[in-house]
Amino acid sequence: MAARSLFCLLAFVLLALATTGSSQLSSQFYEKSCPLALLTIKRVVEDAVHQERRMGASLLRLHFHDCFVNGCDGSILLDPTPTIDSEKNARPNLNSARGFEVVDKIKLAVDKACGGPVVSCADILAVAARDSVVALEGPTWEVQLGRRDSTTASKNAANNDIPAPFFDLPALIANFKNHGLDETDLVALSGGHTIGFARCTTFRNRIYNDTNIDHKFAESLKSKCPSNGGDSNLAPLDPTAACFDMAYFRNLVEKKGLLHSDQALFSGGSTDAPVKKYSSNPEAFSQAFAMSMVKMGNIKPLTGTQGEIRMNCRKLN
Ligand code: HEM
Ligand SMILES: *[C@@H]1O[C@H](CO)[C@@H](O)[C@H](O)[C@H]1NC(C)=O
Repeated sequence: MAARSLFCLLAFVLLALATTGSSQLSSQFYEKSCPLALLTIKRVVEDAVHQERRMGASLLRLHFHDCFVNGCDGSILLDPTPTIDSEKNARPNLNSARGFEVVDKIKLAVDKACGGPVVSCADILAVAARDSVVALEGPTWEVQLGRRDSTTASKNAANNDIPAPFFDLPALIANFKNHGLDETDLVALSGGHTIGFARCTTFRNRIYNDTNIDHKFAESLKSKCPSNGGDSNLAPLDPTAACFDMAYFRNLVEKKGLLHSDQALFSGGSTDAPVKKYSSNPEAFSQAFAMSMVKMGNIKPLTGTQGEIRMNCRKLN
């Protein structure tokens, strides 16, 4: 506990009682069918994050990329086959989405603990995202459960529905709106970029061509991200990429957002105000992030007899 708190100077924990009206999901879904499910997932996530802190970021992003493509249904986890047009090969995911081996590990452990395939892969992603944020000293929340797994995937939908790093503010707002999320959700959830890394190819244009960027910051990235080559070289999305804190927002106020889409949130538009607020108020950010994560997790779940509970997250039953 002490070591963890030392690692991240700012640790804030909040218990968000996540009760949003519309969902058919419930936080108690596995209480009877598999009481050990949540503890089991948490253990594997903690283990993985202990081995590599970036894994927490990668797992958070998997849930986001799952939910934004036809809802939170585990579709991102399906490997390519002659009948599965894998989302792993879509532009936002290819050579970028990671953490699939950890999801496999969780699935094995949780099926063992439950005595069979009781917990869906979609729910595993939602719980692993929360446990990752907590493991990196971020806020906690109650995860809604009961999602079932898709029997399809769509590379095209992944290409079209996941926002791109070159989007400006109107495009970001429109994209989130298409998923039932508002500007508050956009700003709060973009705070997910308080952890993890991005490849040169996603921020090259920003550091060479953007004008709303701190000059020294841009210069400091150019050796790591030359105008030609080095496409997969990594840079942290914020200066404390292994800690879930509010440095991401402080950075935006200083024009040091790494992605064009990050800085778009603080560039004179309607989202300047919440960015400013979160940059100085960690409690407000924690609370907003937790609320918006629940909202994102509620996007078009399969429930009841829809879909299936996969035995292997990479394959249909
Ligand atoms: C607002 C629109 C968003 C855009 C345009 C965007 C774009 C990106 C890009 C380009 C990367 C780097 C990928 C790479 O180079 O391989 C990235 C990484 C990441 N994104 Fe986003 N993202 C957005 C929203 C979100 C949201 C809502 C979350 C979660 C709540 C999130 C979580 C992450 C995380 C944690 C990483 C680091 C992953 C790692 O290190 O493995 N992003 N994002
Ligand atoms: C900068 O913008 C120009 C014009 O849009 C483009 O041709 C060039 O490739 C960009 N430079 C980088 C490094 O992305």
